[in-house]
Amino acid sequence: MTQLHILLVDSEPAMRRAICRVLGKTPMHLHEFDQDVEFMIDESTSGADAELKLQFLTPDLVIIDDNLPDVEAVHLIEGLSHRKLDMLVILMSAYASVESVVMATRQGAYDFLAKPFTPEEVRASIRKAAKHLLLRRHARKLAEEKRAARFQAMSVLAHELKSPLASIDGYLRILKDGSVVKDPGTTQRIVDRSLIRLDGMRKLILDILDLTRLESGQKQRKKEDTDVCELTRRAFETADVQAKERNIELTLNCAGKTVIRADRGEMEIVMNNLVSNAIKYNRDGGRVTVSIDGTGPRIVWKVTDTGIGMSKDEMTRLFEEFYRVKNERTRNILGSGLGLAVVKKIVLLYQGEITVNSKENEGTTFTIVLDFEPTVNSSVDTGSLAFLGGR
Ligand SMILES: Nc1ncnc2c1ncn2[C@@H]1O[C@H](COP(=O)(O)OP(=O)(O)OP(=O)(O)O)[C@@H](O)[C@H]1O
Ligand SMILES: [Mg+2]
Repeated sequence: MTQLHILLVDSEPAMRRAICRVLGKTPMHLHEFDQDVEFMIDESTSGADAELKLQFLTPDLVIIDDNLPDVEAVHLIEGLSHRKLDMLVILMSAYASVESVVMATRQGAYDFLAKPFTPEEVRASIRKAAKHLLLRRHARKLAEEKRAARFQAMSVLAHELKSPLASIDGYLRILKDGSVVKDPGTTQRIVDRSLIRLDGMRKLILDILDLTRLESGQKQRKKEDTDVCELTRRAFETADVQAKERNIELTLNCAGKTVIRADRGEMEIVMNNLVSNAIKYNRDGGRVTVSIDGTGPRIVWKVTDTGIGMSKDEMTRLFEEFYRVKNERTRNILGSGLGLAVVKKIVLLYQGEITVNSKENEGTTFTIVLDFEPTVNSSVDTGSLAFLGGR
């Protein structure tokens, strides 16, 4: 239940009573918001009394009669608009002329009620104002949440860049002080660690560039015939060293070519991130399997690993920017928590869908479903004829 506070300014007691009766009966249901609204009404008999009350009260809605004994209603309305409060004004008048309506609207009145009015007319006007108020508040809340999220993202980002910088700074200082490290083996390890941290920073900066380009819509997108089997093979090549180091087997199940219309760079980002995760969060000696099924009207692209998996709760937050699962198993795995946010944004650009299925300590499967768009170059081999036929 939402409560809206009304200040009713009219010198006629009968009129105030009538409006209170109309609004006080039952809550008003706003089906657009699926919300009931009830009204708390304060009354003023004159302009001076209203002005006094408005120094202490901030009603959501002020209903003013334009025939007040002491002040011109338009001046009262003008004063209210200058205070830039989050309130709306409805002007009531028995002498409605086009000029007075225009004048009141210019001074900031939201709506106009011509006297005499029926209870339905009052309710309709209040309903319109209530919807406007709720919409405005909703929009403001969204904007505030967005600002807060941006701020939060910037702080996390600053932190994510600060910690590798501090490590590299520390390593360089050790090397600079020639007396600390004497043997070449240790020097080599320090340099290697610095390079790893630098790689992490580079990946973070590239992810952020991808994200901002995607969000601003500034990224040049070039859709072309893209064979996702070939693209996955290349993602495997990129990840080969990482996989070999941990003895992780990479398998691709793909019947020949599967060609879609897509921006190759975007699809590479998607696959590189999913394959990189499937290796990073795997166990030593594990497996990563990518299956591509392009035989139906859509392409189903699955990346399965035999890794650490995750809980249901963790799964729901996975695609948030900077979200990383923090536990004993992920403690030593580097990352910024941006990869999947980028992946999801790209998949949505194609009106596609990405879902995750996971079991702790058993493994995870990410599934991407994309619609086929007609390809331009149809020189495909037998593997892709199957999906062309099925389209
Ligand atoms: N295949 C997976 N198995 C288990 N956990 C995963 C898997 N993929 C992602 N996660 C979890 O989801 C989190 C978010 O993944 P995401 O790829 O967005 O970020 P990241 O890998 O931490 O960093 P990066 O930006 O370098 O990719 C990870 O930190 C990890 O906890
Ligand atoms: Mg990742």
